[in-house]
Amino acid sequence: MESQLLPSEPSRVGPRAAPDVYRAAMRRFAGAVCIVATGTPGRRAGMTATAVCSVSAEPPRLLVCASANGSSHEPISRNGRLSINLLREDGDALARQFGGMPGGVSGDARFAHGRWSMHSGVPLLDDACAAFVCKVERVIPAGTHSIFLCDVVDVLCPEADTADERECLLYVDGGFRGLAPAARQPSATF
Ligand SMILES: Cc1cc2nc3c(=O)[nH]c(=O)nc-3n(C[C@H](O)[C@H](O)[C@H](O)COP(=O)(O)O)c2cc1C
Repeated sequence: MESQLLPSEPSRVGPRAAPDVYRAAMRRFAGAVCIVATGTPGRRAGMTATAVCSVSAEPPRLLVCASANGSSHEPISRNGRLSINLLREDGDALARQFGGMPGGVSGDARFAHGRWSMHSGVPLLDDACAAFVCKVERVIPAGTHSIFLCDVVDVLCPEADTADERECLLYVDGGFRGLAPAARQPSATF
């Protein structure tokens, strides 16, 4: 049966690759929710992001895609450093604050939410699932967004207190979710 939204020929660029169809398809991607942060106390900037991706393990590198219109874009570019804080399953309120959602605050005021401390010149969320301190190696303009290609200079990966406490927060189909119990079964690593 042909899908209503997805083209039958994936390489075809046409009406079915229109931005609204593209957005509808991308909503089906479950993304781990992170806060990308930069700056020093009083001048911090941060945004919620799911467009975070590992690039290389040796050397450790990852990328973040950030809207050129977002308030964090310029501070990240200027500072050349950022942190990536993977939110815990109960971090949805924090994700909303840093996601520019209605009723939210902007700039340094966002950091009144959650417990933050400075580490290697960037703000780190104390109880993140995992956190990365990064140096921006390259900024690649890409349409509405920029790709920040980053060298990872430090990783904080706390031991799990209990399995439940350290599950990460997901965003899919316009809503925040945790991992379903079935997805928590141990699986092979790669
Ligand atoms: C769950 C979630 C994921 C998001 N992921 C990204 C992302 O990967 N890249 C991005 O540029 N914006 C992303 N956003 C939007 C930014 O967080 C938001 O535009 C920004 O914080 C608000 O803009 P402002 O900082 O200019 O107020 C996401 C928002 C939410 C709620």
